[in-house]
Parts: sequence; structure tokens; C-alpha cells
Amino acid sequence: MPLNLTRINRSYLFAFIDSHIIHYPTPISLTYAWSFGSLAGICLVIQMLSGIFLAMHYTPNIDMAFSSVEHIMRDVQNGWLIRYIHANGASMFFIVVYAHICRGLYYGSYMEPRELLWCSGVIIFLLMMGTAFTGYVLPWGQMSFWGATVITSMVTAIPVAGQPIVQWLWGGYTVGNPTLNRFFSIHFVLPFVIAGLTLVHLALLHKEGSNSPVGSDTGVDDVPFYPYFVSKDVFAFACFLLFFATFVFYFPNVLNHPDNYIPADPLQTPAHVVPEWYFLPYYAILRSIPHKVGGIIAMGGSILILLLIPFINTSEIRNTTYRPIFKFCFWFFIADFIILMWIGQKPVKDTFILVGQIATVYYFAFFLILIPIIGKVESALVHYKLDSD
Ligand code: HEM
Repeated sequence: MPLNLTRINRSYLFAFIDSHIIHYPTPISLTYAWSFGSLAGICLVIQMLSGIFLAMHYTPNIDMAFSSVEHIMRDVQNGWLIRYIHANGASMFFIVVYAHICRGLYYGSYMEPRELLWCSGVIIFLLMMGTAFTGYVLPWGQMSFWGATVITSMVTAIPVAGQPIVQWLWGGYTVGNPTLNRFFSIHFVLPFVIAGLTLVHLALLHKEGSNSPVGSDTGVDDVPFYPYFVSKDVFAFACFLLFFATFVFYFPNVLNHPDNYIPADPLQTPAHVVPEWYFLPYYAILRSIPHKVGGIIAMGGSILILLLIPFINTSEIRNTTYRPIFKFCFWFFIADFIILMWIGQKPVKDTFILVGQIATVYYFAFFLILIPIIGKVESALVHYKLDSD
């Protein structure tokens, strides 16, 4: 009998869907905090689709970029909708991913055996930042131009090679047409790389299965993913859509800087160059260090430090609810992050400098000192209690 390859492939596909979606073993106790992962995937799809439609009408040339965006807003059928979905979608993506990271931090999802899964997430997060940064340059408004100038100029802090490298990045002696062209290419390509890495992220997740609010591993209290978590994720998606639509239809420009509606002018620096809200905490860390190279290292370190957590953690308990000392430091860290976000949009003067510096110190102390030490202290207390009972 001839081999029926279509049939074999189809049965393989059905078996894959069955074991990785329909009957995928999922801890029964997962809360809505576990829906942010699927929401992040939906955000990525929304950004890629709306971006492809924008690219059909956008012109990556410094003389036409700004007006091509206005053309999308005014002349293209539903162009305003596609652009507002894409611009606000970037913010929604960051809200969702920040919530996803916080869930991981709170429930100890980075702990053994999910170290690589966590690290794959951090790499995705770095690429997301690169995508958002290059995307913000494309409308070629004042903030686009000056934001690109401020950030790319950091490369000049590299001794000796800094100047040649930045000129190579720009494709000239300032941020200009070659810069806009390459940023457009990078902005178009990166989401596809993120999509590929997301598949790696999911493969790593399915290797160990989900962590859970009680800290149990898969196999202890599982139910099939369908229908329990499909319905839960669909409800989370409906709520997210309402939230997203409120911005798109009622406050489409509230997360944008008004100066970006002024065409880029290389001869006039805006009074304050501020990044988008999701970059503000790192910008605050950069400006809190009164030394150019030191500031750049601290800013890069503030994100790369996430890669260290799985390896410097000493806690034997995953869920922060059961860790009273760490719980206090965790919520203090969340407040600290919000303070840094506020400082990032303030001028570098008076009390703001001091507040920014204190918040920066706590940011690093949380990861480098509190995470390793509190785990040990809490474990010692638990063992002491068990021994004395
Ligand atoms: C494009 C961005 C991302 C997408 C699409 C994505 C997708 C997902 C999905 C679908 C899940 C399973 C559902 C869930 O547990 O929420 C998941 C789990 C997880 N993700 Fe992500 N993720 C992204 C970014 C990140 C980032 C930035 C991190 C960390 C820095 C991260 C760390 C994790 C961890 C540790 C888990 C396991 C959670 C657990 O079992 O408790 N992810 N991700």
C-alpha cells in the first residue's frame, strides 16, 4: 500500500494540537494573572497585522515620513483606526508584558526548573524595546528625531571607537535619511524574530508545564487546557479589548507626546526630550548617575539584571504570599519602579535628582541584595520553626 504522507502529517498535527492545546495539562489553580501570556501573544499579532497595513502607506524618507503619517490619518480609509490601534497597541503590549513579568516575579516563576524559560522572556523583552524604539522614530516628529539622537549618541561614550560607531549606526554625520531607512527595516523585521522566539518560549514552557499560585508543578492538580483555560483566556481577552478600545476611541493621544505632532527640526531641540512612558524608569536610572558611561552601564544593567534572578535566588518558596519579608520588599519594589517612572519625566534638578538616586539604589539593591539574602533568612526561619515543632 502506498504511504499516505498527507494523512501522516495531518494525524501528527492533530496529535500535536491535542497534546499541546486541548488536553494540555494545566494546574487547576491558575488565576487570571496567568492570562497575560496569551494576551501578550495577541498583542504581538495585533501589532504585526496593523503594522503591515501601515507600511502599505508609510514612506520612510525624511521629507515625506511625517506627511505620509498625516496622509494615513486623513485620506486612507480607516487609516486613523489602523494607526491608533498600532500606536496605542504598543503601550498595551508593554502594560501586558509588565504584568506578565510581575506575575513571574511574584509567583517565583523564574525559579528552577523554569530558568531558561524566564531568560527567553528577558530576551524577547529586549527585542520588544528595540522594536518600540525604532518604531517611535518613524513618524519623524520632534520627539522621534531628538529621542533617536539622544539614545544613539550614547554610543559615543565608548572610548576611541564611539564616534566612528555612531556614524556607522546613523549612516552619516547626524540622524538622517539613512537612519530612518534602516530603522524602518529593523522595525519591520524584529517582530518576526520576536514571533520566532515566542515559539521557543512556549516550547520551554511546555517542557516543564506552568507554575501555579500554590507553587505546585504540573502533574499535581491538573485539568485539561480546553475548555477550562480557553474560556478563561477568552474572557480575559474580552476585558482587555474593552480597555484597549477605550484608549483607541476616546483617548487616542493621551499616551503620546504632543511635540511629536511637530515635524522633526534638527535645528531646534525640544525643551524636554522624554521617551515613551514604558522607557521612563530606565531613563531615570540613566540620568541618576552623574557620569555618562556609568549612567549608560546602569541603564543597560537595570534590564540585564533580570537574567540573573533565577541564578541568585535562594528561596525555597515560590509564591510571595507565603514569604512575609519578601512580600514587603516586592511591593516596595513596585512602588519604586513607579517612582522611577515619574522621575523619568521630570527635569534633572533639585529634589528630583535625590529621589531618582535613592530609587535607583533600591532598584539594584532589590535584585542584588534582597533577593539572595531574604530567601536565605526565610528558609532559616521556616527550618527553625519546623525543628522546634
Ligand atoms: C512577546 C512577549 C511574550 C509572550 C507572547 C509570552 C507568552 C507566554 C505565554 C503564552 C505563557 C503561558 C501563559 C502564562 O503563564 O502567562 C508564558 C509563560 C511565561 N513567561 Fe512569557 N511571554 C512573553 C514575554 C515574557 C517575558 C518578558 C518574561 C520574563 C522576563 C516571560 C516569562 C515567562 C515565564 C517565567 C512563564 C511561566 C509562567 C508560569 O508558569 O508561572 N515572558 N509566556
